[in-house]
Amino acid sequence: MARGARSVALLLMMLGVAARAVSAVSDGPLPNGHFEQRPDASQMNGTRVMSPNAIPHWEISGFVEYLGSGQKQDDMILPVPEGEQAVRLGNDATIRQQLNVIRHTYYSVTFGAARTCAQAERLNVSVTPESGILPIQTVYTSSGWDSYSWAFKAKHSTVWLSIHNPGHEEDPACGPLIDAIAIKALRSPHHVKTDNMLRNGDFEDGPYIFPNTPWGVLVPPIAEDEHSPLPGWLVMSDTKVVKYVDAAHHAVPRGSHAVELVAGRECALLQEVRTVPGRPYKLSFSIGDAGDGCAGHLAVDAYASAAALKVAYESRGAGGSSRAELEFVADADVTRVVFQSGNHHMKPDGTLCGPVIDDVSLVPEHAHTPAARRLRM
Ligand SMILES: *[C@@H]1O[C@H](CO)[C@@H](O)[C@H](O)[C@H]1NC(C)=O
Ligand SMILES: *[C@@H]1O[C@H](CO)[C@@H](O)[C@H](O)[C@H]1NC(C)=O
Repeated sequence: MARGARSVALLLMMLGVAARAVSAVSDGPLPNGHFEQRPDASQMNGTRVMSPNAIPHWEISGFVEYLGSGQKQDDMILPVPEGEQAVRLGNDATIRQQLNVIRHTYYSVTFGAARTCAQAERLNVSVTPESGILPIQTVYTSSGWDSYSWAFKAKHSTVWLSIHNPGHEEDPACGPLIDAIAIKALRSPHHVKTDNMLRNGDFEDGPYIFPNTPWGVLVPPIAEDEHSPLPGWLVMSDTKVVKYVDAAHHAVPRGSHAVELVAGRECALLQEVRTVPGRPYKLSFSIGDAGDGCAGHLAVDAYASAAALKVAYESRGAGGSSRAELEFVADADVTRVVFQSGNHHMKPDGTLCGPVIDDVSLVPEHAHTPAARRLRM
């Protein structure tokens, strides 16, 4: 009896150890990712957080402020949503959190940010040894808040996720506001389905979108697919982005996600794919509008090898889509499939928008059976 109880205890202990060893961070907000657990008043001076471990689950350095809604700065009300808390990263300030992750797994990070004083604010998001500089612009939503994404491949099972403001403004209290930080494990960027040569052609794999953010997630310029929060896809631009949208808040041609090309010709969404030179292929995709009021003569320019196609789409801003096809002959062993919005578009609230693309497929075309062969049969 006693022995039985002991072995049960031992078993439970072992299970506990095993559970702890594998309990990697799960998809969704990070612990205290909304900063809803506040620092103790004794560790604050006004809004400034004075001690490195004052904000539960986070470690800070530099000039970090902890702000609630309705807070003012130089008579300007900071755009912290009602009932929310946010941190502001001043000059050279960092917030970081240690995460248990699964080694060799790809993760995307989503966070909300709002620009404050400077015209060109930037954030350096990193998980050593990887880092990315994200331009923070507020041209995509009317609230002033946008959600940004970034991705990394876990080299270790314990990593530090850091968000750093490398800026040096005259006013130390300038710098972006940050709120709502989440993580999501991604499929490998090399994951392919059998019926489509493109990876993640349906955009179903991508960064975490908070259920209460109606404005999607921005995917910043990404030049290597290892670092893409949109597995398989690259974003080419100096500072502009594409927007990842969900069916919960947008019209999406199929499935639960799509991409809105919000930055006109200043940004391209592309994927590189292995092809056989001289072989014919067919690229097909859906073009539509996200049902978010982006009305007008929308258009998508698609390119593959030497072929190009302009697809026009009349949008009333209420959702809808159609299919388009581009046939081409590969001229190299790697072909770039590229999509761009034909123009800049704006919603009535002055924010940027554009056509939505979804369900991108690339398949080899079967060469027509030559007449001679048919005769022989
Ligand atoms: C709090 O901040 C004010 C203004 O910057 C400064 O004068 C004061 O010395 C600070 N107090 C403490 C306890 O650090
Ligand atoms: C961003 O932060 C990482 C980690 O601290 C650092 O290695 C990298 O040099 C920084 N990048 C820039 C451009 O400052």
